Amino acid sequence: MWVCQNRTCKKQGALAVFHAFEALQLPGWAILKSQCMGQCGNGPMVRVLPGDIWYWRVQPKEVAAIGERHLLHGNPIQAMMYPPFVRG
Ligand code: FES
Repeated sequence: MWVCQNRTCKKQGALAVFHAFEALQLPGWAILKSQCMGQCGNGPMVRVLPGDIWYWRVQPKEVAAIGERHLLHGNPIQAMMYPPFVRG
């Protein structure tokens, strides 16, 4: 999974979000820093692969929920997804 670390997302707190994901130490998941995802202003942006699920405006306090529900148990959180990229 990727956490955008480009300028705009960083201004919105993306580094703290990255560290919050790292701190979860989720087995089987690589937490990676990405360049701009082309969605500046809607961040911090988080993109989860496989599945290509995008979360927006992610705050550090929300990271535990994404980790627990989506990354560990495979249930993406619809309410936190980035609306333009929600499919189905
Ligand atoms: S800076 Fe994160 S999407 Fe552009």
